[in-house]
Amino acid sequence: MRSNIFVTGDLHVGKSTLIQRVLNNLPLVKILGFKTSRYFQNKKLAGFYLEDFSRLHREEQKAFIGRCVNDNYWVSIPETFDTLGVEILQNCLREQPDLIVMDELGFFENDAKIFQKQVFDILASSIPVIGVLKKKQTPFLDQIRKRKDVKVFEVTRENRDRMYELIFEEVLQVIGLDKGKNYIDAASYEKTVKEVFAPVYPVIAKQILTRTKMTTGVCLDVGAGTGHLGIELTKMSDFNTYLLDCSQDMLLIAEQNIERAGLQGRVHTLLGSVYQIPLNNESVDLVISRGSLYFWEHKKTAFHEIYRVLTPGGMAYIGGGFGSAELKRQINQKMQEKDENWRKNMAEKIDKTTNVNYLELLKDLDLAYIDVSDSEAGMWLVIQKKQEYGFGTASN
Ligand SMILES: C[S@@+](CC[C@H](N)C(=O)[O-])C[C@H]1O[C@@H](n2cnc3c(N)ncnc32)[C@H](O)[C@@H]1O
Repeated sequence: MRSNIFVTGDLHVGKSTLIQRVLNNLPLVKILGFKTSRYFQNKKLAGFYLEDFSRLHREEQKAFIGRCVNDNYWVSIPETFDTLGVEILQNCLREQPDLIVMDELGFFENDAKIFQKQVFDILASSIPVIGVLKKKQTPFLDQIRKRKDVKVFEVTRENRDRMYELIFEEVLQVIGLDKGKNYIDAASYEKTVKEVFAPVYPVIAKQILTRTKMTTGVCLDVGAGTGHLGIELTKMSDFNTYLLDCSQDMLLIAEQNIERAGLQGRVHTLLGSVYQIPLNNESVDLVISRGSLYFWEHKKTAFHEIYRVLTPGGMAYIGGGFGSAELKRQINQKMQEKDENWRKNMAEKIDKTTNVNYLELLKDLDLAYIDVSDSEAGMWLVIQKKQEYGFGTASN
């Protein structure tokens, strides 16, 4: 099984950008690894340094792997690979992420033998790798290319969009995610939203506002997709809203929808995962989420993150459904006509989500209120974080 994927190609064809695009669109929990970045002095390329992928932009001292000493004379610094590089890769093996990034492997590490051995240990491990291979022949790089567990894709300016699709599918496969089941194509999702789901968003937005009795503050729509629920709720209230999704493609469409609704100043997209929400503690008054819960393999982590960003007394309205029995009937009928497996697939997803014991899952959180309802309107979980002083205010 080829579980390690490398991109190669000429300079500046966008190899790292392609990898970043793949990573931005993956609904993953944990990605670790390293990245090499360019260092400029007086606008001239003066070196390359190594960074821990999970701690980008936090290193104050650059860990150089190569420096330009005289105008065009480059020296490599293999010790950086053998110390920091090895440390990062050993940590990857300890932490067992879903995917390891090696961006990039080149010739500065020709003499970094300890690092090279660590790279081979990782390639032989069960954790898949996505990386960039310099288009050069060195014994180290050739040995990687020859491996049976490595698949190399050559990217050019002309083929890079097609390559992105191919590599994305390959990565989904090696990390054990199915297209359709764990990943939704943004353009076709938006088409279905426009043709079928559109009427449910204002209905659900209204239900959320009525039930939570909230009208203002910061709202976060988790797994917002192309943004319709967050946008409808913002139209009906004074909320300022973030649309969070781990798919950059979904958010690009959401941005067009925000503009069409004239809400550029009040609704913003946010790329990230529910497992690591890129917002401060206690900064969100209302968290909403529709249809994303089905994709969260690690629900406890997700709810802890949601709790962390909620203000004291803040509420969350999370679940899935079509708003009412009648809308559900109409939508099921339309979707079944488009896709004969629709009912079966939905039933499986819903089963996996409704069979969870949410009271047990949320028992460590300091909640003033919790209600789980499962009806024709959908499966919805309403929670309220405890106020520091006083009592919760939510009611049925
Ligand atoms: C069925 S769509 C629902 C979109 C939108 N809420 C709606 O109702 O139209 C599920 C969305 O959840 C997103 N998603 C899945 N796993 C996620 C995660 N771990 N973090 C953030 N978003 C996630 C997907 O990218 C997708 O856009």
